[in-house]
Amino acid sequence: MLLMNAKRVDRIINSIGELPILPTIYARLTHILNVSDASISTISNIISEDQSVAAMVLRMVNSAAYGFYNKIGELQHAIAILGLNEIKNLVLATSMYNVVKGFRPSDRFDMQEFWKHSIGCAVSARVLAETAYLKNPEAVFTGGLLHDIGKLIHASYLREEFDNVVADVEKTGSQMSESERRLLGFDHAQTGSALAEKWLLPREIVNMIAYHHLTDMPPDTLTKEIAAVHIGNTLCTALRMGSGGEKRVPMVNHEAWEILNLKVSDLEYVMQRSAKLFEERVSIMEFT
Ligand SMILES: [Fe+2]
Ligand SMILES: [Fe+2]
Repeated sequence: MLLMNAKRVDRIINSIGELPILPTIYARLTHILNVSDASISTISNIISEDQSVAAMVLRMVNSAAYGFYNKIGELQHAIAILGLNEIKNLVLATSMYNVVKGFRPSDRFDMQEFWKHSIGCAVSARVLAETAYLKNPEAVFTGGLLHDIGKLIHASYLREEFDNVVADVEKTGSQMSESERRLLGFDHAQTGSALAEKWLLPREIVNMIAYHHLTDMPPDTLTKEIAAVHIGNTLCTALRMGSGGEKRVPMVNHEAWEILNLKVSDLEYVMQRSAKLFEERVSIMEFT
């Protein structure tokens, strides 16, 4: 059953001719940062090739969050201030922004709310990852940013089916993935992860997308990173950081909470920090 659906999802993804591609700048930057001790000037050269990314880096460093009195106009200076991890997040978020803009979804899909939900999940998952001392909060940010990309695929390429799913969610109060499974036989976690595979993103990120609801998980697949995205999704929905079109807040899975090994008292910090980062991000990357 599962395998059959997986094949169907692959067929859908492969039949979409003009599927948006992830700008190469993200892969190039990740590669450079992974293989070598890249210098700021090398990174600056890569970034300056993509105007939208370069502009975003400068906008970020000049935002209220960094509080500089004088405007910073040099890319290299901005990179040194922001640090490589922040740069990577920004490059990814800007690339994603450009990708999201390339989709033409159904009228029933609210792009602005979806974009905010994606940023909200990315920052919440990253703060959870940092608080739980995971070694790769950057990857978790990526997983959070992309976790619901499958919804955008449905809304853009399976419009009629998507509209039916939205109507079903409204009528029954189901989670969107439950309605999708019932009506389509697969869900947005499957289509989203198939797209991430096509984009050649690392397996750990593909898995964060595939299992963010913790459904259909092969045994021993649950990682702390998947748990962070799963809980980040609940937090950002509960805190109303945008909306992924759900009518109710998704439940937190007990195992996911256990594996992160956080205390309930950590949650207050996580929520406050996530809310602050969310406001900062959304203010410089507003969807227009
Ligand atoms: Fe989802
Ligand atoms: Fe979501």
